[in-house]
Amino acid sequence: MRHLLDTRTLGREDAIMILDTAEDMSATQQREVKKLPTLRGKTVVNLFYEDSTRTRISFEAAAKRLSADVINFSAKGSSVSKGESLKDTAQTLQAIGADAVVIRHPASGAPDRLARSGWIEAGVLNAGDGMHEHPTQALLDAFTMRRRLFGDASRGRDLAGISVVIIGDIVHSRVARSNLWLLTALGARVAFVAPETLLPFGTREWPVTVHHSLDAAIAEERPDVVMLLRIQAERMHKAFFPNEREYARNWGLDEPRLARLTEHALVMHPGPMNRGLEISSAAADSPRATVLEQVANGVSVRMAALYLLLSGERGGTA
Ligand code: CP
Repeated sequence: MRHLLDTRTLGREDAIMILDTAEDMSATQQREVKKLPTLRGKTVVNLFYEDSTRTRISFEAAAKRLSADVINFSAKGSSVSKGESLKDTAQTLQAIGADAVVIRHPASGAPDRLARSGWIEAGVLNAGDGMHEHPTQALLDAFTMRRRLFGDASRGRDLAGISVVIIGDIVHSRVARSNLWLLTALGARVAFVAPETLLPFGTREWPVTVHHSLDAAIAEERPDVVMLLRIQAERMHKAFFPNEREYARNWGLDEPRLARLTEHALVMHPGPMNRGLEISSAAADSPRATVLEQVANGVSVRMAALYLLLSGERGGTA
C-alpha cells in the first residue's frame, strides 16, 4: 500500500489482508516483549489539526511498538496558528525526513490532497477528515466484530451474513461513512437509524437501509452489532441541535432496548461517548460493550497499516 485514505476504494481482498496482518500484530502484543524492530529508522509524524485521544495515542503506540521514531504535531501551539499553510507544513515534514504522515484534519479531502500533492514523498494515513472518512476506525471496528463473532475462525474471512445497525448523528460522522463502505465490501448488511435531520443528503442512494425508529430497527434487523455514534455538537448549528431528553428517549440505547437485543449482539461505540444521551451507562458498561476492546484493537490495526505502508508490502494507493 502507498497510502490509506479511505475505505470506499479499499476492496474486500485488501481489507481482509489488513485485518489478517492486524491479527499477526495482535499476537505479538501478547508477548512479554511487545516491541518489534520492523520499522527501525523510519519516522512517523502524527499531524493533528483536530483534537483526538484514541486515534493519536494508538497511532503513537503502534509506531513505537514497531520501533519507528514518532513526532507528534498538534496544530494548536504550532505555526499553523500563525497562518502556515498545509503545503508549507507538509514541506517542513518532508525536510525533516518523514516516512509516514498520519493526518487528522477538519476539511474533508485534506489527506487526499496531501497524498496527491507531490509536496511530500511520505505515505499518508487518514486519521479522520471532516465528515468524509476515518478508515482505521472502520478497520478496527471490523476487526473487533470478526474477533467477537467468529473467534479463532476469524482469519481470512469476511463479515457476510452479519447485520450491523449504526445509530445517531450519521450526517456528521466519518465513522459511519467508513464503516458503511468497509462493512458492505465485507458482505455485511448495514442499516442507519437517525432522525431525518441527522441523515446526509443522498443517503437513500447508498447501500444501506434507513430507519427513523430504533425500536423498529431492533425488531426488523435483529442486529448482530449495534453501533452508537456521538452527537457531534461542535459541528452543528444550534438550530439543528436535538433536544437531549427527546433524543435519548427516541434514539438512545437505554436498558429496555439493551434487553431486547439478541443474546450475542455487540454494543459498539467509537468514542468519545456522551453517556446518558446516545448510550446509557448500563449499555456502555455491559459485557456486550466492546468500547475498550475497540481501543486495544486499534493499536494492532494501526500497526498493520503502518507496517503495510512502510515495509513496501503490496502496491497500490488504497
Ligand atoms: N474514535 C476516535 O476517533 O476517537 P478520538 O477522536 O479520541 O481519536
